[in-house]
Amino acid sequence: MHKVIYDTDPGVDDAMALLFLHRHPEIDLIGITTVFGNASVETTTRNALFLKREWNIPAPVAKGASVTIDPERREGAWPTFVHGENGLGNIKVPETIDLPLDPRPAHRFIIDTVRANPGEVRLVAVGRMTNLAMALKQDPEIAGLVKDVVIMGGNFYVPGNVSPVAEANIHGDPEAADIVLTAPWRVAVIGLDVTAITTMSRSYLADVAARGDSAAKLLNDLSQDYIDFYKHAVEDGMMVHDSCACVYVVAPELFSTILGPVRVVCGGIADGQTIVKPDGRHFPPGNWDGLPSQVVCTGIDSERVINLIRDAVLRA
Ligand code: BDR
Ligand code: CA
Repeated sequence: MHKVIYDTDPGVDDAMALLFLHRHPEIDLIGITTVFGNASVETTTRNALFLKREWNIPAPVAKGASVTIDPERREGAWPTFVHGENGLGNIKVPETIDLPLDPRPAHRFIIDTVRANPGEVRLVAVGRMTNLAMALKQDPEIAGLVKDVVIMGGNFYVPGNVSPVAEANIHGDPEAADIVLTAPWRVAVIGLDVTAITTMSRSYLADVAARGDSAAKLLNDLSQDYIDFYKHAVEDGMMVHDSCACVYVVAPELFSTILGPVRVVCGGIADGQTIVKPDGRHFPPGNWDGLPSQVVCTGIDSERVINLIRDAVLRA
């Protein structure tokens, strides 16, 4: 079993990925930590509690960062036109959910859980990297105690989605992402190179809902506005960004990868750009020297990824 802490900003594609993690037979979801991003952290936390309640997810929810790792330098911001005002495609969600939160802030929850399960925890982060960076800053030794880190973020050989060179999760807190990507732990980076070509059509999702239980139906309902939003880029469907990272946890063979240190541009015209220096390529000494090699995904078997998501959702 893969012990997963899911760091998330639900978020429509975050919700689909959460249901995948909850229902996949080889995944033990041991915690959900929230972060600002697709909405304020109050809203993403409320959404996590809502989905926990609706989908009977036992994992505790710990609330995380409301602003970036360096709020003096930049604040947190969130668009409301992608995931809706309420972060879940404007379906009806109660203002508050009567479920307790874990008393610890997300970064403390991460530290404690990693220390309690040395060598076992897989951190899957699909929002701003702020909670992970805070955990590393407070307890750098956790880098040697996690099994690995899997993130949805960045773009290497394709354009960004919030600027010509930057992807939303990285652009929302580039300093945090640079801390996470340069720490001495193994990070698998699932970016737009693979997630932007992995789409689920409206009719495919409707079919899953028709064959599935009430959880699948809720997933279908909350995805409709997001699918509308994607009209500019996808023919009647949605990119399943965050689910790609979760599928990587159990099926890395569906991805092709390169290895190399990764840095994030922090400021200026390329703010939030992710850059990999492939191992074996030599350049004059510079910003990549002495850093750990990370796993950068450059290819994906989208069809099999989409089918794995379907299979997990249908596994009620
Ligand atoms: C990422 O940004 C968010 O809108 C999605 O949930 C995903 O994590 C894609 O750029
Ligand atoms: Ca997300």
